[in-house]
Amino acid sequence: MTARASTTLAVAEPGATPALQPELERAEPCTLVIFGAGDLLHRKLMPSLYHLMGDGLLPDDFAVITVARGQGDDEWFRTQVGNSLRTFAPNGAGIDQAAASGFAGHLHYLAGELDDPATYAALRQRLSEIDATLPGGRGHLFYLAIPPSLYAETITRLAESGIAPRVPDPKQRPWVRIIIEKPFGRSLESAVALNACVRRAFAEHQVYRIDHYLGKETVQNLLVFRFANSIFEPIWNRSHVHHVQITAAESVGVEHRGKYYEEAGVVRDMFQNHLLQLLSLMAMEPPVTFSADAVRDEKVKALRAIRPITPAMMHDYSVRGQYGPGTIDGKPVPGYRQEPDVAPDSATPTYGAIRFMIDNWRWHDVPFYLRSGKRLPRRATEIAIQFRRPPHMMFPLSPGEAMEPNTLAIRVQPKEGITLRFEVKMPGVDVKLASVDMDFGYAEAFGELEHDAYETLLLDCMLGEATLFTRSDEVEAAWSAVDPIITFWDSKRPEHFPNYAAGTWGPAVADEFIAREGAAWRQP
Ligand code: BG6
Repeated sequence: MTARASTTLAVAEPGATPALQPELERAEPCTLVIFGAGDLLHRKLMPSLYHLMGDGLLPDDFAVITVARGQGDDEWFRTQVGNSLRTFAPNGAGIDQAAASGFAGHLHYLAGELDDPATYAALRQRLSEIDATLPGGRGHLFYLAIPPSLYAETITRLAESGIAPRVPDPKQRPWVRIIIEKPFGRSLESAVALNACVRRAFAEHQVYRIDHYLGKETVQNLLVFRFANSIFEPIWNRSHVHHVQITAAESVGVEHRGKYYEEAGVVRDMFQNHLLQLLSLMAMEPPVTFSADAVRDEKVKALRAIRPITPAMMHDYSVRGQYGPGTIDGKPVPGYRQEPDVAPDSATPTYGAIRFMIDNWRWHDVPFYLRSGKRLPRRATEIAIQFRRPPHMMFPLSPGEAMEPNTLAIRVQPKEGITLRFEVKMPGVDVKLASVDMDFGYAEAFGELEHDAYETLLLDCMLGEATLFTRSDEVEAAWSAVDPIITFWDSKRPEHFPNYAAGTWGPAVADEFIAREGAAWRQP
């Protein structure tokens, strides 16, 4: 985030193209070792690295070694990546051939099993051959893009083989860092155990736990929006905010990930990480400095203030759902239980709506409604702050007419931007009110957002900038908030699954749930 945050914007002419004065930082020489050559590598990591190189942000002395099971050599792997760039990079068809082959020249492949010591010996050899070309060596960044069940063993073997030593001093060069993908554990207990394993091998400053939502431009903007403006802070509290809704709606189903999703369900997949990250950024106190630990200290405090949800409270605090067959964009789609690798009587929730209360001075009595679901009508992630209604209404309302409360909606994706809804007088001789929007759209102000979250995150790891990564205590605090819900849901089989049709906004009980509190879901 440092690199991109140092870009300064020097315009405000409506419609004009903003003049950017970038002062982007370049990574130090390093070798990235990626364990695993699956979807993540081909869809996200390679296109992101390719773009970073195109933007001149990778060092000249940069190498990638991919370690995976399939047989192959450097040439074979380079061809594979060339194909995936054409398929997955935005504007892949228009990929510059010369740039792509220049990029491919930095890639290496090592076939090996992750539980075999010989793999680590071969990796050590490859790393030292590459390091030998540069006096002083290079930073080493290890990326676990493998199934979570292999994390602990790979971390332990990496440490025991001496390839990835513990480095107590963050300033020591060359540096050694590790990136761990989500999901980080599947319960509080397993996350604590994984943290203990990580801690035995690495110092915390070496560890980068990824939540790709934090790399999204609009999510980073939450910090800027809240703390680089003075007009919002005075109203960002219980005196003015009635409630907050955080929605992550997806129109896709579980696609080819039925096996994973059966084990995960919506709370592990979306709430423990992405949604609670958004909540913590919304709710946190202003950090003293814009540094990784100052920001994360405040996020952890917000997460720890979440009221524990006991079994007796569950009915009032949570709703779950599972999609049945339905229609999306006019096309019939199967229900969750008909998806590949899903049990025909599966009880896995694909939708969740949860009320979180934050028991601190700022947010006392302000509900944060979080909801996420697969196969909802459209893809939309949004944070909406609904303000309190005026305490006294002096304007006459027609019978049955209710005043719309002011709402600030932060669109995380798509159509990234921010809208403030407020009341105005409609033109005419009488006093009639209407709600209007004041809108800021990223695309109109800055052009389409082009960077994938992984570009920001990969570069930040190479720069040693950890603000956008979750610290061990943060991961555990988030698990503490959702663990009771998962345990309760696992212990009580749902009776009415599936309870919403694909292509609708979730189960009817979710509407009743929020209506009991005098609110209604927005449809972003
Ligand atoms: C992933 C989940 O972490 O996030 C997926 O595992 C989900 O199930 C995805 O679809 C959503 O990410 P995005 O960036 O498309 O909102």
